Amino acid sequence: MEDSKIIEILRILENISHIKDIDTLLEQVLLEARKIVNAEAGSVFLIKKNYLSFEYVQNDFLHGDYENSSDYMYTKKKIPVDNKSIAGYAALTKKSLIIDDVYNISINKPYSFNSRFDKLSNYITKSVLTVPLINNREKVIGVFQIINAKDKNGKVISFTEDDSFLADLFAKQAVIAIEKAIMTREIILRMISIAELRDPQETGAHVNRVGAYSVEIYKHWAKKNGITEKVINYNKDILRIAAMLHDVGKVAISDSILKKKGKLSETEYEEMKFHTIYGARLFSNSGSEWDDMAREISLNHHEKWDGNGYPGCINDLKCEELNLGNGKKGDDIPIYARIVALADVFDALMSQRWYKEPWPEKKVFDFIHEESGKHFDPSVVESFIQVKDRIISIWGKFN
Ligand SMILES: [Fe+2]
Ligand SMILES: [Fe+2]
Repeated sequence: MEDSKIIEILRILENISHIKDIDTLLEQVLLEARKIVNAEAGSVFLIKKNYLSFEYVQNDFLHGDYENSSDYMYTKKKIPVDNKSIAGYAALTKKSLIIDDVYNISINKPYSFNSRFDKLSNYITKSVLTVPLINNREKVIGVFQIINAKDKNGKVISFTEDDSFLADLFAKQAVIAIEKAIMTREIILRMISIAELRDPQETGAHVNRVGAYSVEIYKHWAKKNGITEKVINYNKDILRIAAMLHDVGKVAISDSILKKKGKLSETEYEEMKFHTIYGARLFSNSGSEWDDMAREISLNHHEKWDGNGYPGCINDLKCEELNLGNGKKGDDIPIYARIVALADVFDALMSQRWYKEPWPEKKVFDFIHEESGKHFDPSVVESFIQVKDRIISIWGKFN
């Protein structure tokens, strides 16, 4: 085995150890695992309540390039952890598995290949390398499955023992980063569930969706604006978490306002607007990029492109006596907040609220078109429309 491969793995592990967001991390882990063994496709699962839940599916053959290769990530699909499936078997036995041809698995094996996805997508899976993700307490937290190894000429070949060794080595170390990112996500969701206790509309599902929509819109917008892939990958990692926390400042708003069933009085509505400032205060100390983005989003997610939003320019976030300023306009509103503004409104319109029924999809999209240049940044609306399919599948996944 070449030493250069092991050095390459160490370099990759160093890079992924900085990724804080679990979705970005899993996508990257799968991509790198495929690169290490030169494979065309793959999927990664996490174990959730004794099921293997599909997190990411990548397929260069079906989706062309890496940019589009994670097309099926927003699926609700899951399979039981049992020995009937290949992934389930690897999870149960805690051992990696090499299969040369999934359509010729011996009938003596307990597992078989589910060809449904192949049939649906006109793809032919042949060789598969399945690797359990095992933490240092010997617990299996997930599985990744690498599909169709290729030789130098692009011909599908079998995986080798060397491939399996390298993938195992990579998986063992990647698990450390994955567990750390899962913990970060759990802490964020716990912060959000505290906010949810206060404001029943700010649910885990809503914030998960707002985080995911924001990433999809940003990726498109940033590419269109010439931002490099490296920078996009870095920012989207921070953006998802920061976007999820957009309304966390509501913890400081009194119950009589948050839980009021009925129209807020003018003073109550004014008080409600301060949730933007209260949220920004939570992230005003550390000065890390993560805090900076969370602060920008909390503070500005109700600003409007035409200047009719709130809270406007605030000179001193910590000032005891708060007053709203003149609404910020256009590019004065940070891009991340312009994106979250649209993601948040879209989700609220699609959802049931105590004061409204969900709007039909067409009405929501028409409304967003109408508000382009008024409430929303037209370039953000344009990107949102371009990634419409992904937005709709996110809506389906976390619903
Ligand atoms: Fe808000
Ligand atoms: Fe929200």
